Amino acid sequence: MDRQYLIDFDLKQIPTRISDLLIIGGGIAGLTAALIAGDELETTILTKGKIKQSSTWFAQGGIAAAIGDDDSSESHFEDTMEVGANLSDREAVKVIVEEAKEAIEFLIEQGANFDRENGKLRLAREGGHSKARVLHAGDGTGSVIASTLGKAASKKKRLTLHQDRFVIDLLTLGDKCVGALVFDSEKSVVEAHLAAATMLATGGMGQIFDLTTNPIMATGDGFAMTMRAGARMENLEFIQFHPTSFYFDQNPRFLISETIRGEGAYLRDKRGDRFMVSVHRLADLAPRDVVCRAMVEVMKRDDTDHIFLDATHIEVSKLRSRFPGIYKYLKEYGYDLKKDRIPISPAAHYMIGGVKTDLLGRTSIEGLFACGEVASTGVHGANRLASNSLLEGLVFSRRATLNILDNLPAKVNGKEDLIEKGHSPVESGQLENIRADLRKLMTSNVGIVRDSEGLFFAESEISRWKDGLYGRQFDNPAAWEVQNMIDLSGEIILKALARTESVGAHYRVG
Ligand code: SIN
Repeated sequence: MDRQYLIDFDLKQIPTRISDLLIIGGGIAGLTAALIAGDELETTILTKGKIKQSSTWFAQGGIAAAIGDDDSSESHFEDTMEVGANLSDREAVKVIVEEAKEAIEFLIEQGANFDRENGKLRLAREGGHSKARVLHAGDGTGSVIASTLGKAASKKKRLTLHQDRFVIDLLTLGDKCVGALVFDSEKSVVEAHLAAATMLATGGMGQIFDLTTNPIMATGDGFAMTMRAGARMENLEFIQFHPTSFYFDQNPRFLISETIRGEGAYLRDKRGDRFMVSVHRLADLAPRDVVCRAMVEVMKRDDTDHIFLDATHIEVSKLRSRFPGIYKYLKEYGYDLKKDRIPISPAAHYMIGGVKTDLLGRTSIEGLFACGEVASTGVHGANRLASNSLLEGLVFSRRATLNILDNLPAKVNGKEDLIEKGHSPVESGQLENIRADLRKLMTSNVGIVRDSEGLFFAESEISRWKDGLYGRQFDNPAAWEVQNMIDLSGEIILKALARTESVGAHYRVG
């Protein structure tokens, strides 16, 4: 990394706010931390846009927990390990499967209403699970969880929420994180948020690909700023693609939840064949990496860029009641789930690796914690089991925050001496051409199937952009996002080049 900070600043010259705990991000991990700490510590939560723009808000399928009568945490453990290609950290997996029930009870206590049948929580199936264990709220599970947590957190006396704050960089003094440099997008001013503990909960990076299910906020800022601050990262080459994004030219691609296949829908090629039956014992519910690779092969064979999801054999009342959001959305685009096969194709969905943390969310930088998609706890190994992401965000955010309450790092005093200078004069360009080219480059060369020629080409393009931007500074979030996207993509490519074997979501053909 060339330099830690994207812009020049002098801490003594900019407005400064001080908290005990600074939380960056308003998805499941950030809101859980805010809720737990909000009465105990002076807590500030910053969101890049609005709470309704987080990846959590858009999550459809659900949250996994082995709570069914015929289920066990051992079985959830085995499925997580198998889908993760046995590269998962066994201790971390044990933690999420064993703490899942308590975490779900916590959500229900806060008021989360999951679907029930005869009074019992209704459990769905998804790819890679040997049992039905996915709790859901129709097909809007994420928005129900986020609004429940947000509402409960808003009652906390010592919590301040600032929306529309773009975090430019983490501030470090020596080996310690002391907060973040933040752009207030409402007032267009740069300010410092100093804190004894800083928790990153910034979510994912799907927007570095031009086909993604992730909201436009997911540009990988959290990964990039943490890399610049010098924290240890891991497994960045493992990126999960989701098989069933609606085939329509839009950003983000609309996700069609895997739980539809859990309720019996099939994947079909253009001739109508159910190709997954001969590929994997779980057929349409094989792990996502297996399904995506089979789709790529079929699309290549058939010289097409999409296949079909077929739910026409499922009762219309079930489709409507179980998937109201998806049913309505597709109708608006002229497709009827009951009557039509829906065109779909894979899209970038989830960063499996990230900022390395221990089982208490601690990163390699003192005072900096990470939870949710930006973190790599080791749970997902080389590939994430469906619906383990909301669970991981919830379980590890609870653990990290409870630990912070017990062991708050030394407070900052607001007189920290920190100056960055030496960049070129400030520019107001937004780098939108690079953003578009980068997203296409990543989809074409760093996607589901990779080879060294494509990866080296992508690396050379990234180096060219980096050289062109060296030492320059910008005054706006759009440009900072593109700088983050370049930094993160460069690191992903290096890791993908270094891993010459195929494993989990990283598949090399050369
Ligand atoms: C889905 O609903 O298919 C997405 C769930 C997940 O990413 O785990």
